[in-house]
Amino acid sequence: MKFTLDTTPIPELDTACLVIGILEDTPLQGAARLVDQASNGALQHLIDSGDVSPDWKDTTMLHGLEGIAAKRILVLGFGEPEKFNAVRYDNACTSAGAYLRDHVTTSAHICLHDIEADNTDPGSSLGQLHWRLRQVAVNVDRANYRYTATKAPKDHDNDPLEILSFSGGSDLQSALDEARGLAKGYLRSKELGNLPPNICNPAFLAETAHEIANSYENVSVEVLEEDEMAKLKMSALLAVGRGSVNGSKLIVLKYQGQDDISRPVVLVGKGITFDTGGISLKPGSNMEQMKFDMGGAASVIGAFEACADMQLPINLVCVVAAAENMPDGDAYRPGDVLTSMSGKTIEVLNTDAEGRLVLCDALTYSQRFNPTALIDVATLTGACVIALGHHASAIMSKHDDLAEELIEAGQTAIDRGWRLPLWDDYQPQIKSAFADMKNVGGMGAGSITAGCFLSRFTTDQRWAHIDCAGSTWIWGDDKGSTGRPAGLLTQFLINQAS
Ligand code: BES
Ligand code: MN
Ligand code: ZN
Repeated sequence: MKFTLDTTPIPELDTACLVIGILEDTPLQGAARLVDQASNGALQHLIDSGDVSPDWKDTTMLHGLEGIAAKRILVLGFGEPEKFNAVRYDNACTSAGAYLRDHVTTSAHICLHDIEADNTDPGSSLGQLHWRLRQVAVNVDRANYRYTATKAPKDHDNDPLEILSFSGGSDLQSALDEARGLAKGYLRSKELGNLPPNICNPAFLAETAHEIANSYENVSVEVLEEDEMAKLKMSALLAVGRGSVNGSKLIVLKYQGQDDISRPVVLVGKGITFDTGGISLKPGSNMEQMKFDMGGAASVIGAFEACADMQLPINLVCVVAAAENMPDGDAYRPGDVLTSMSGKTIEVLNTDAEGRLVLCDALTYSQRFNPTALIDVATLTGACVIALGHHASAIMSKHDDLAEELIEAGQTAIDRGWRLPLWDDYQPQIKSAFADMKNVGGMGAGSITAGCFLSRFTTDQRWAHIDCAGSTWIWGDDKGSTGRPAGLLTQFLINQAS
């Protein structure tokens, strides 16, 4: 989708649809006030009569308003001013986006970023015009998504939005540049997540990485095949993919936005393109959802693409551990003891705890880049969904500063994370009688013991682990990938650059 800025006075805007916002029981502001004035009080009259709802996330479409050049006006409710905050602003913008996707227009002019409530702290993200503009652009773009890769659009489906213009001058261009990057990252992540596992397999992830590398001069890619990984002694990663005919791959994308001696940020993604559980087979019901088990990989690839799109002045490496976890005559088994690339041995008690096995070798491999921050992202544990549901990604780190930077990035992008402890007190849960550790930690604190396992492969690194098992896809009505936490990661990279 294309984003542009336009300084034409609101009543004179010649657009298929003008989108404006209103708060409950509050004098009209910004674009809404201008519409009301130009239409001789028609808007206020419609609000007073109850025909236009100011309730949070409500949308009302108006046609042919006198004195207004726009063909249609979509009025979005922001609800009670006392409750108005960044999350409610963000969610309401998504609702306007969903309306636009499903109704007649393929272009629109949006002026929602001029909304302000008395309680809006100017130091907060909500207090900043730049942020409000960026978020509305990203959210309308995200809401405009429709999956069509393996399914033709229905006849009655409206054509998607192609062009969005926003009120404002060139001083706001940087907000739209960020929005474009974020939107691209989410889109890539979402599409990879939604594609079926017979299409989106490790080779497909590698092809995607090549496609991205071909689009930017300062991006390169290297894909390590199984024989090369064997030479590096990545036995934990290779064990997971051994039951699959789809070869495992280690995909390494590099972006250079700075001189080549500057240390990079390294993002590592779990790319299990399908997780049957292996010999410790998962139950049949809902197993199809395990196509989303590459959500971590999808979001690091998305954030990588966003970074390249914005040409951020940082160096970035993205490492994806791609494999398929299948049961087979050659599959790894419970009881096996694996020697990881680090030399540490792992007793496999459950072949369904495969994510940590591919990640541990990817983390060891990543040390060679001497990162300023090493962040792995994974749909690692069902326990994470139990703990945080679908609203937050879990953030684990022994480095308070890094954990806080990630949480803050999530808050800014409204792609939020919540911290879980990684205290050494949990480490005894992964003690093994036959190896340096085992790959499951028992009943309690399943997400944390998975984090403890990974921590053993990141000695002395400034490292964090993000478990996105709950945030990266949803069931329910809008079933499918959310693209998260590509937004959190992209914001983290934007913050690194400034
Ligand atoms: N990919 C799953 C985690 C998962 C499950 C994410 C459900 C989202 C929804 C992971 O590979 C897995 O199977 N983890 C096991 C670990 C256990 C065997 C220690 C789990 O969470 O049950
Ligand atoms: Mn599993
Ligand atoms: Zn898994």
